[in-house]
Amino acid sequence: MDVVNTKRRSRILIAAFLTTVFIIIFRLSPEHNSHSVFSRHELGVTHVLVTGGAGYIGSHAALRLLKDSYRVTIVDNLSRGNLGAVKILQELFPEPGRLQFIYADLGDAKMVDKIFKENAFDAVMHFAAVAYVGESTLEPLRYYHNITSNTLVVLEAMAAHNVKTLIYSSTCATYGEPKKMPITEETPQIPINPYGKAKKMSEDIIIDFSKTTGMAVMILRYFNVIGSDPEGRLGEAPRPELREHGRISGACFDAARGIVPGLKVRGTDYNTADGTCIRDYIDVTDLVDAHVLALANAKPGKVGIYNVGTGKGRSVKEFVEACKKATGVNIKVKYLSRRPGDYAEVFSDPSKISRELNWTAQHTDLQESLQIAWRWQKSHMKGYGPPMATA
Ligand SMILES: NC(=O)c1ccc[n+]([C@@H]2O[C@H](COP(=O)([O-])OP(=O)(O)OC[C@H]3O[C@@H](n4cnc5c(N)ncnc54)[C@H](O)[C@@H]3O)[C@@H](O)[C@H]2O)c1
Ligand SMILES: *[C@@H]1O[C@H](CO)[C@@H](O)[C@H](O)[C@H]1NC(C)=O
Ligand SMILES: *[C@@H]1O[C@H](CO)[C@@H](O)[C@H](O)[C@H]1NC(C)=O
Ligand SMILES: *[C@@H]1O[C@H](CO)[C@@H](O)[C@H](O)[C@H]1NC(C)=O
Repeated sequence: MDVVNTKRRSRILIAAFLTTVFIIIFRLSPEHNSHSVFSRHELGVTHVLVTGGAGYIGSHAALRLLKDSYRVTIVDNLSRGNLGAVKILQELFPEPGRLQFIYADLGDAKMVDKIFKENAFDAVMHFAAVAYVGESTLEPLRYYHNITSNTLVVLEAMAAHNVKTLIYSSTCATYGEPKKMPITEETPQIPINPYGKAKKMSEDIIIDFSKTTGMAVMILRYFNVIGSDPEGRLGEAPRPELREHGRISGACFDAARGIVPGLKVRGTDYNTADGTCIRDYIDVTDLVDAHVLALANAKPGKVGIYNVGTGKGRSVKEFVEACKKATGVNIKVKYLSRRPGDYAEVFSDPSKISRELNWTAQHTDLQESLQIAWRWQKSHMKGYGPPMATA
């Protein structure tokens, strides 16, 4: 009898959850908002379109923008993001005119144009993308389509509707495998995988376009992003099916939770101090600070290009040690041979952004950043997923 009750209860919960989802999607659909404050420019209010705002970095950026009194529209098709993150933002900022969510695919140029027509954006932060190096080598077209081609769609809509400020999410993967470290903004960009190439192409398109339009552009090339909201409201929750392509922090947390038997470290014979790869990890709180500064400092007719990293490289072994301490779990580590396409050492020279935008990493501490992220992971075993799934 208990089993039957539990089954019925979970069915009711699922139904309730789905109803909520549809109500939210309906309430926040663009039709519903077409005559709202979102469609008018307002003196003293900057309205930012955050593409990919249901994703990991985009949701953290939206939270920060809302806290700083920006007006925010999130466009996301939830292919990789989480409605749960949007819901939390809605609960934190329920006042009219603060945040709206539009469910749409950036590949749909007509729809994107309609969104720009019906909303008065002052600036765009373009996060939406697919973002796994390994996946990009297996499905290159997915990357050129959802990164390069979709960026073109966004630019065309910006041109058609006279939106003149763009903050673009780029990546250190556009540099490929430079001979000299640290990487400066002048380091030649020779990407070695479709992800890096698609991002580099987007950068080129944006730069060429800006020359003819007087757009204010900031291109931020992030290094390896870790961490989550220090107040525990948001976290990183990629689709389970993307786990195999996942990043090291996700793999480390999965191992700590026991979802996977251990952490696989690929490559111990690199030409580095301890033989493992070296990367430059940057906390998402610092990264979001950089976006807000970039937005405030964007100038018409200018393209600012900045590395966003700490300038310090940390080895995978160091990362694993920090992860063990942060989670308190003695994670099993399996050392394997190299993964094709990985480069030994990547770290940034962040002096340009420090000089020009007065930005330095203030919140990045490998162990502390991982500890904050772990706290969220531990209390969200199923990510943002249906609440009954965690019960
Ligand atoms: N995470 C990192 O370490 C890292 C490093 C460098 C650069 N970046 C860049 O930062 C940005 C955000 O990355 P993230 O880690 O938050 O990824 P994410 O997958 O968590 O978020 C991307 C979001 O974009 C949405 N999206 C994708 N295609 C879309 C489409 N066609 N229409 C509408 N929405 C769509 C997804 O649903 C998702 O919510 C990306 O541009 C990525 O390339 C990330
Ligand atoms: C999201 O957009 C992509 C195109 O970029 C599309 O192929 C996919 O089906 C969409 N996913 C959803 C859930 O709408
Ligand atoms: C990306 O583009 C491909 C088409 O190349 C499509 O099949 C896929 O669903 C798109 N969306 C995502 C999120 O990958
Ligand atoms: C630069 O940033 C620091 C720390 O974030 C801040 O205390 C300082 O006032 C800033 N300086 C200027 C000139 O804006």
